[in-house]
Order: sequence, then C-alpha cells, then structure tokens
Amino acid sequence: MTSNSTQIITDIRKQRGSNLVIMGHHYQHDRVILHTDLRGDSLELARQVPSLKAEYIVFCGVQFMAETAAMLAGEEQKVIIPAPDAGCIMSNMAPAHILDCVMRRLSETDRRVIPLAYVNTSAAIKGIVGRYGGSVCTSANAKTMLDWAMKRGDSVLFLPDQNLGNNTADALGIPAEKRMVLDIRNGGRDMNPAQTADKRLLLWPGLCAIHERFREEHIDEIRQRDPDALVIVHPECRPGVVAKADAAGSTSAIITFVDNALPGSTIYIGTEINLVERLAKANRDSKRIRPLRPSSCRNMAKTTESLLAETLMNLETSEPVRVPDDVAYYARIALERMLEACA
Ligand code: 13P
Ligand code: SF4
Repeated sequence: MTSNSTQIITDIRKQRGSNLVIMGHHYQHDRVILHTDLRGDSLELARQVPSLKAEYIVFCGVQFMAETAAMLAGEEQKVIIPAPDAGCIMSNMAPAHILDCVMRRLSETDRRVIPLAYVNTSAAIKGIVGRYGGSVCTSANAKTMLDWAMKRGDSVLFLPDQNLGNNTADALGIPAEKRMVLDIRNGGRDMNPAQTADKRLLLWPGLCAIHERFREEHIDEIRQRDPDALVIVHPECRPGVVAKADAAGSTSAIITFVDNALPGSTIYIGTEINLVERLAKANRDSKRIRPLRPSSCRNMAKTTESLLAETLMNLETSEPVRVPDDVAYYARIALERMLEACA
C-alpha cells in the first residue's frame, strides 16, 4: 500500500524532473532511501555534487554532509537538508575555536604540522584545516590522504576520530610510539607543544558513539559460535575490533564486501543498523547478514519519509544550507585538495 508521503514524494519528483536531485547516505532508513536519486558513502556523495545540474539538491543525511554538498555545489544551486538539526556526535567533539588554538600553538614550534580533518567535521573546522595547508578525508580514502599529509609536513594532526586515525596509521605502519593523543582541555591551552616534538601523528580525542559500541568480545563470541562466519566493520570502530574482523571499510566497501561474498555465507557487520538491515533484506535468499550488535545513529534517523515529503512540498520557501563565504573559501580549498588527490 502506498502511504500519503510516498505518493507526495513520487508526484513532486515527477513534476520537478531534472530540477530536483535527492541524495541519501547509506545510513538512511529504507523508507527514505527508496526515494533517492543518488546514494553512497561520504566520499561518493561529495564527489557527485560538482557535476549535478539540478537547482534543488535535497540531502538526506547529517549536517556536515549537507554543508559539504553546499560548498561543492554551484552558486545558483540550493542544498536543502530535511532535518537541519541532524548533527553528528563525533563532529561536535571538534569545536573550531579549540582547533584554532591548538594550531596556533603548534605553529609556534619549528615543526610543520599538517591538519587532516575527517569529513565528519563542521565547515569551520574544514576552513581552519584549509588555511593551514591541510585537507579532508573520508573513511574510504583515509589511507591515501594520511599519506598525502605525511609527505607535506613533519607531522599530521588527524581529527576528530581517534579510532580512524589509529586504524589508518596501523595500515600505513606508523609506529604507536610516534603517535600521541592531544590534550585539548581548557580550549586547547593545556596542550604542551614541546611534547609533540618527536611525534608523527597527533590524534584528537574524538569518537563515534555508534561505532564505539562494537567490542572485541562480540567478535570473539561469533568466532566461537560460528567459526565460518565473516566479520566486517567500519573503521570508526576501535583498533582492537578492526584487528579481529576479517575486513574494515567505508559503508560502500561494506556493501561491496557483502556483494562479493559467496552464496551461503554468514556475515556479521559492525556499523549503523539501517545499512545492516537493508543488506540483510536484499540478500535474504542467499546470505545470512547479521548486525555485530544493533547500533543506531539517532541523527541519521531524524530524516523520515514524512519529513522528506514536507520538505519537498515547501522547497521554494525552505532555507538552503549556507556556509559563510570567509569560512567556505578555505574549506573548499581543503575539500578540493582531497578530490584532486583522490581523482
Ligand atoms: P562513510 O563515509 O563510510 O559512509 O561513513 C560516514 C559516517 O558517518 C560513518 O559513521
Ligand atoms: Fe556521526 Fe557516528 Fe552518526 Fe556517523 S554514525 S553520522 S560518525 S554519529
């Protein structure tokens, strides 16, 4: 049975045609994903924006993703987020004024520190990173971008995800003793730049609460119960979890892993539940897909089908996502460095 919202969205999409593009991140609910023209991981979504021609880009995801889209879209295009209050817990752990203070203090040393921001950050953070010669990365290109940043300075400040930073450093063979978690207390004023002198990687103490729920013992339990099962997790999980899994990757890499698994496989996935449930449904006749543990992102869940319908009905009067020009200038430079390095 078609709901009222489904019908409204279908009709508006038909009327608007190529004037409207609906984008959605893989963590969105099925009832939202079903209406998207484009879906993907953070990198794929960002990459597609510059080539879009539609006047309206409706972004079903969280704030930092819509902000990134707004900075990569043309001046005459409008990026609308149905749930403007959909933040990201991890992104909130990196307030711009603290990074500003930390970078100023690190610049007083004789070492060149290149900041590398995970895309899960505000435009203001991306702006600071761009201003200091740094760039942005996503979970899909973190290894390439950390390598890129390492080649440009004496050390790299990676923020805000400590787990992604450590997992990527493990993949690049950066020794643990060359890494250090920064003390960002007191607005960054407690950080002692002298202590960073022999370090190659400075990590911000941030994390994603949704991925932090997955623990090593969950994988141990599966290995005991079902030794043939495969386990894949998102690299926002703790390094100990990534080490015990068969693979780790971005949301798109997880989808590819499931697609490529042999029929009859059992796969446990450590990431947001909407994606796991969608994969379980799509593969129910050939593979057993299970969550490592059910873990849901309440910010991703703020976009519902009825909110999307309401947004589309009010497109002309909706407030587009805007990033102030002075912030966007350097943030765009940071994003473009990433798109160029990963073309
Ligand atoms: P992806 O870039 O892998 O889609 O991840 C985005 C995200 O927010 C994961 O928590
Ligand atoms: Fe942010 Fe975690 Fe939600 Fe991703 S899953 S949007 S990192 S809070």
